Amino acid sequence: MEAVTKNFFMFLSKNKLLNTLAQKRGGNFAAGKIISGTDFASSIPIIRALNHQGLATTVDYLGEFVDSEEVANERAEECIQTIKMIHQEKLDSHMSVKMTSLGLDIDHELVIHNMTRILDTAEEYGIIVTIDMEDSPRCQATIDLFKQFKEKYNCVSTVLQAYLYRTEQDLQTLSSYQPFLRLVKGAYKEPADVAYPDKKDVDAHYKKLIEQSFQYGLYIAIASHDDNIIQFTKELAAKLKIPNDQFEFQMLYGMRSKTQLELVKQGYKMRVYVPYGRDWYGYFMRRLAERPANIAFAFKGLTKK
Ligand code: FDA
Repeated sequence: MEAVTKNFFMFLSKNKLLNTLAQKRGGNFAAGKIISGTDFASSIPIIRALNHQGLATTVDYLGEFVDSEEVANERAEECIQTIKMIHQEKLDSHMSVKMTSLGLDIDHELVIHNMTRILDTAEEYGIIVTIDMEDSPRCQATIDLFKQFKEKYNCVSTVLQAYLYRTEQDLQTLSSYQPFLRLVKGAYKEPADVAYPDKKDVDAHYKKLIEQSFQYGLYIAIASHDDNIIQFTKELAAKLKIPNDQFEFQMLYGMRSKTQLELVKQGYKMRVYVPYGRDWYGYFMRRLAERPANIAFAFKGLTKK
């Protein structure tokens, strides 16, 4: 039953018509619950409040699978303005971006042009930009882009997904760049020939990747709400004498808020991924697929103006 629900929301997450309707119909849907606002200005008080509690953030201007050059350019411009505001408002925040929102599916030169504009600004203000990892057909292109940008920019980072068989190899290749890497389980529906179908295999692979990253001497973000993974990381770091400033935990805005604060109290760095914008649909559906318990508060959000 759980698998049926997951597949249903994963299927919905890719529906372009529903995505368009969602943008027109419900900009405030779920705002304040798992999405911080429809624009960056309205998200600033939320980010500031998180910062005051000792939580760093990474902001994500929602949007993906863009198929118009004009929209891709607008999205890049929004990211640039957001980076400037993070600096002006003295927020403790990184930025996260998706390559498909900046033109990856349209034209290779377009995504390079847009990312270069973003990274020029980010480098100037010393703000880290993490390239989110999307579905497996875009993985190689994303890694190639990351390597290309990392040659020129210190401020760029990316994500590796534990559900993909290929990730150990990618980790080894990327380790020579000494990147700041975010490790996640992986959020997309993937076929069994590219990704572990069983959660227990994903979890075991995730642990192996954490251990290898520590051995490569990388600064990593363990982005998971899973107590088992968090506990494993704490114990491993203690065993290997990895200091707390060599890794951080990350969670999504609105998820396990108490646990986020407890980790800060215990002396760990915690960064909250804060999404904002009108294009909330795909993000929201993937969260529902992961944890149908989110449905209850999602529907409360629907009635909220
Ligand atoms: P998982 O969903 O496997 O849950 C394990 C257990 O954790 C549950 O059984 C429950 O006990 C507990 N739990 C989980 N959620 C909970 C909640 N809300 N409340 C209470 N308990 C809960 N993916 C991707 O493909 N590309 C990317 O770039 C990113 N980026 C990213 C950034 C950040 C900061 C995070 C946290 C996640 C991502 N992801 C991602 C998503 C990621 O791949 C994954 O889909 C989700 O984090 C869900 O997996 P978890 O490891 O959190 O636990």
